[in-house]
Amino acid sequence: MPGKDDEYAPRPGEIAVALPASFNAGIYFIGTIRTPWRTRADCPKNGRGSEAVCTIEVHEPYGAALAGIEAFSHLVVVYFMDRARRDLVLQVPRHLGEPRGTFALRSPVRPNPIALSVVRLLKVENNRLSVVGLDCLDETPLVDLKPYYASVDSTGDEPPETGSPIASR
Ligand SMILES: C[S@@+](CC[C@H](N)C(=O)[O-])C[C@H]1O[C@@H](n2cnc3c(N)ncnc32)[C@H](O)[C@@H]1O
Repeated sequence: MPGKDDEYAPRPGEIAVALPASFNAGIYFIGTIRTPWRTRADCPKNGRGSEAVCTIEVHEPYGAALAGIEAFSHLVVVYFMDRARRDLVLQVPRHLGEPRGTFALRSPVRPNPIALSVVRLLKVENNRLSVVGLDCLDETPLVDLKPYYASVDSTGDEPPETGSPIASR
């Protein structure tokens, strides 16, 4: 991957593991996300970090799967962090300065670099959705779209957050 090795090179205190030789499952990329950000330095660290309008292009033959989506004010967008390394189990995020396990982070670096954001849906035009609330690089592959239901997706009784949601590497 371009930039993967240098941008995501392990830091002191990080642990990389050998990944399995084969995958357990395959996924279909169903679209492409267009954003204003071409480098990680420019990219917001989480979906609340920018009000930029981004475009989600859903590829054929999946356009028909968008029927009815305009009824929702917010969507859950699932995407694939295609430029992230996948082998770190312990990471030292810059904002923490100490090691933390990958599954206790929102870092894009993980065995399955699947990301999600809850976005505000502004407009649907054919196979293109205009949304606010993404934090990914331009041309990030789209894995799935789901309607956001506050009644289901927000527990409403969360304890105070531990750590910062600004949890890239
Ligand atoms: C901290 S992650 C959070 C992703 C998602 N909101 C989540 O919580 O699952 C966001 C960061 O991932 C990095 N990133 C964005 N798009 C990427 C891509 N296509 N490949 C690798 N890294 C990416 C950028 O550094 C960005 O700031």
